[in-house]
Amino acid sequence: MAALAAPLLFPQSAATLNVDVNRPKAPVSPTLYGLMTEEINYSYDGGLYAELVRNRTFRSDWSGILNWYLLEKGAASAKLSVDNADGPSAALARSAKLEVAKADAKSPAGLLNEGYWGVAVRPNTRYTGSFFAKSSSEVPVRVALIADQSGRVLASTSVPVSGAGWKQYKFDLRSGSGIDASAENHLELTIDRPATLWLQLVSLFPPTYHDRPYGNRIDIMEKLVAMRPSFLRFPGGNYVEGNRLDSRFDWKKTIGPMVDRPTHASPWNYQSTDGMGLLEFLEWCEDLRMQPVLAVFAGYTLDGRAVKPGPDLEVYVQDALDEIEYAAGGTDTKWGALRARDGHPAPFTVRYVEVGNEDEFDRAKTYDGRYAQFYKAIKAKHPEIQVIATTLVKGITPDVIDDHYYKREQGMFEESKHYDKTDRKGPKIFVGEWATREGSPTPNFGAALGDAAFLTGLERNSDIVIMSAYAPLFVNVSPGGMQWSSDLIGYDALNSYGSPSYYAQVMFASCLGDHTVNSSVADASEKFFYSATASTNKLCLKLVNASSVEQPLTITLSGTGAGTARTSTLHANSTWATNTIQEPKRIVPVNSALDVKGGRISHVMPAYSIQVVEVDLK
Ligand code: AHR
Repeated sequence: MAALAAPLLFPQSAATLNVDVNRPKAPVSPTLYGLMTEEINYSYDGGLYAELVRNRTFRSDWSGILNWYLLEKGAASAKLSVDNADGPSAALARSAKLEVAKADAKSPAGLLNEGYWGVAVRPNTRYTGSFFAKSSSEVPVRVALIADQSGRVLASTSVPVSGAGWKQYKFDLRSGSGIDASAENHLELTIDRPATLWLQLVSLFPPTYHDRPYGNRIDIMEKLVAMRPSFLRFPGGNYVEGNRLDSRFDWKKTIGPMVDRPTHASPWNYQSTDGMGLLEFLEWCEDLRMQPVLAVFAGYTLDGRAVKPGPDLEVYVQDALDEIEYAAGGTDTKWGALRARDGHPAPFTVRYVEVGNEDEFDRAKTYDGRYAQFYKAIKAKHPEIQVIATTLVKGITPDVIDDHYYKREQGMFEESKHYDKTDRKGPKIFVGEWATREGSPTPNFGAALGDAAFLTGLERNSDIVIMSAYAPLFVNVSPGGMQWSSDLIGYDALNSYGSPSYYAQVMFASCLGDHTVNSSVADASEKFFYSATASTNKLCLKLVNASSVEQPLTITLSGTGAGTARTSTLHANSTWATNTIQEPKRIVPVNSALDVKGGRISHVMPAYSIQVVEVDLK
């Protein structure tokens, strides 16, 4: 539990915060808090997407098949290669070829998969597996989860492969009670006789959130639930753009059975399985009751090339319209019918579409034309959709503009005032990516202070800032898992944890009014930040003391009398303090109560602290 005491070296003068709950100022957007996501830092593969088998489609480089190893136990003799001419589908037209010259029950041969930095195995758990295979003769394939150090078999089964012709085989593995949860395990597939075995799409899933097949990790989904997100912006970020045209997020290659998904290179230097495809993103929204913010490819790729507006761009505009139809169309539409074929007849509601990502980087300055072309086509078919621009555009006034902020703590303190004077007549704002970038792999407490200060500014200005999302959301903290530092939620194969910034956001989202109220502060330190929002029954105060000394504070509440206020405090003794995968709960919110007497709260904010004070209004 976090300690609340800190040395009072240079006492801060007592500040006063006056809040008039009877004087509403401006509306607060119900969609202010949401999530942004893309495949970065092993966010899906090796992260949220619960697949345990790494490189399930057998990609290879000069060193051989990545993440897979040949097994020759005892006197067995075998060879492992890639068969580039034989696979179960057009999308996966290659396979792993295991040629076993010598093997028997005591000396089996096969392949080993290392997982995503190990394979998490828990006691009394059912694992759902499958693979595509064909073989030179009928052969039982033994599938087993094995402890790395002891070689102990944690779960195993035998899958009879019936010879020539590609077929999908399904199996279950069940672990017993006498084991400890651990990720120091691997998967083995072996045979006990001479034969040739071809394999593709080897998959193994633990139990998933809401029991979805090919679904999401439960621990990570539960962390997201606590953030109460109202929307999900997907699939990026740079990931929607791709390094080149052929590695953009081509959504049509991410739907349907897994065997029909070719996989693609993500801009973050690893291959995406596309197991997290368009429908899986939408189902993720459904599971957490978030609205989708559909980011569509807009003709600009990270190599700096832009498709010229006009006829050349039309194919991508049509792709976007098809994408909206896949998500939101009835089953009587072409793409809505495909969604039904894929298992989801009910349409999703799409209110926001974002055209591209960070198009201010387009040096050819084609975004005005590209945005206009998408805007007109989307509005013509879907006048109800708000079309988000990724930067300022000339010609058309966008419905919403996506602003991004990545700064150090001091920079975010300054940005907390950014929207205080923004022209209310302009487009609404979506802060689609923001983070205080201090701390690695996940932000430290200094970053949480910058984040919380910044959020007070968004809450104060939520009449114009209608949505916001931190980025990046996830990082696999195993060696080599991170491409971008300061990520909200960290995990390895077995466990996950929230950074101090994560807890600050959980706290902020836990109490949010539907309007701001008139308020003023006097005599506070420069590093004191706050917001005051209210709805009929409650007042929510967000208080941030980013200074290294206590902040005495008298809160006067006009329009309310006596009672108790609930307080949640996040505090650390240093800005460098943080949570880690080994010590995930060093900095967590601590709940307490504050007395309200005659409309006053006499309060002392600890040094380096973030507080949410919730007052019942009668
Ligand atoms: O969040 C990481 C990256 O930062 C995003 O992919 C990109 O949009 C931004 O530049």
